[in-house]
Amino acid sequence: MTFDNVSLFPMGSKLSENGTLTVGGCDITNLAQKYGTPLYVYDENTIRTMAKTFVKEFTSRYESTVVAYASKAFLTKAMARIANEEGLSLDVVSGGEISAAISAGFPASRMDFHGNNKTPEELIYAVESGVGTIVVDGFHELNLLNQLASSREIVQGIMLRLSPSVDAHTHGHTTTGILDVKFGFSIESGESTTAIRQALGSTNLDLKGIHFHLGSPIFELEPYSQAIDTVLDYLAPFRSEGLNLREFSPGGGFAIGYMRNQPPPPISAYAEVITSMLIKKCTQLGFDLPKLIIEPGRSIVGRAGVAVYTVGVIKDIPTVRTYVSLDGGMGDNIRPALYGSEYEAVVANKMTVDTGHEIVTLAGKYCESGDILVKDVSLPTLESGDIIAIPSSGAYCLAMSSNYNMNPRPAVVMVKDGTSQIIRRRETYQDLIALDV
Ligand SMILES: Cc1ncc(COP(=O)(O)O)c(C=O)c1O
Repeated sequence: MTFDNVSLFPMGSKLSENGTLTVGGCDITNLAQKYGTPLYVYDENTIRTMAKTFVKEFTSRYESTVVAYASKAFLTKAMARIANEEGLSLDVVSGGEISAAISAGFPASRMDFHGNNKTPEELIYAVESGVGTIVVDGFHELNLLNQLASSREIVQGIMLRLSPSVDAHTHGHTTTGILDVKFGFSIESGESTTAIRQALGSTNLDLKGIHFHLGSPIFELEPYSQAIDTVLDYLAPFRSEGLNLREFSPGGGFAIGYMRNQPPPPISAYAEVITSMLIKKCTQLGFDLPKLIIEPGRSIVGRAGVAVYTVGVIKDIPTVRTYVSLDGGMGDNIRPALYGSEYEAVVANKMTVDTGHEIVTLAGKYCESGDILVKDVSLPTLESGDIIAIPSSGAYCLAMSSNYNMNPRPAVVMVKDGTSQIIRRRETYQDLIALDV
């Protein structure tokens, strides 16, 4: 038996005979009882299938592709191990992400370190840990990194992050490839030309290639081809100055489905547009085909994760709105408050109830009126104690979570073929004051 929103939930999600939601062969209502709520449930098979899909769809079109999981979307030791086992590289953006991945046995040599303002301490840590590539984002970093590498008598592999002035039409907070952003060396302003020349002349830096990232989530294909076209045209003349483009990265940003009526393009469509444009431009301009590095984050883990909450207070304001308050909210998912992001929701213990639907608003428990997770959703009549499941919650929810109002962060459970395992325990009140001195 299936249900309306099934394509937003982890692969293989089903209805049980009792009319409850199962994910990874586990009944969500049982998981809620066993581990408590709010709870984040990740389906291991979905994560692995997405990783394999990216590898297959890209390498079948362009053999020399590396898939680097953007760990900012969701990182735990278990996640780093899965990425490693699937043969992915890792896109990291802080010393903390490097450290967490190393502690899970992820080789630093397969990490690409991004960020618009890496601190000196982070750069030293990355260099000394043997991080394979540092994606340099500004002149201060370019100077500092060359000095750090020189004083250690090493040559550090780098890419330069360029900003190609291509608008990927994402939310204003998540567009990163236009002129007016903090990221990267702008082509339009001319600073990328200075940066490429400086990098080529830096004795302790090995400029392996060029990177850009347009934003996230990108539902259109055209921005990728437009940016590849622009950037390769721009780079061609630098070959006479010594640029050897061995690596090329158009970043990540591949969309996932959040709402039933807004399906993303399939991975194969992104793969087709990126690889065909890269091959076309390299052939046209006489470049040897570089290693292609893609950086999916959201699209690897987004669908795999389900947020699970318990209904508490229900406040009905006649003719205005019914607020149904949950035991989590903006502390574990800031995206609706930050970006106006929309989600679907189901009642995990009433999946087959199709009478008495009402339009309600699912609110969080945090002290902000803007702490709304899902506005105006049609659900069966709710009672306190019902279990709400929000799909597409695997990316940028826990990763951006906070202890606002001194609420402990939720536990995280990995499910697979009918078994469940805690991969991150629920925070305790003790954890909340553990750093106070
Ligand atoms: C440089 C870079 N690569 C990859 C990503 C991952 O984006 P997504 O999770 O949408 O694939 C990001 C996200 O911010 C990024 O900044």
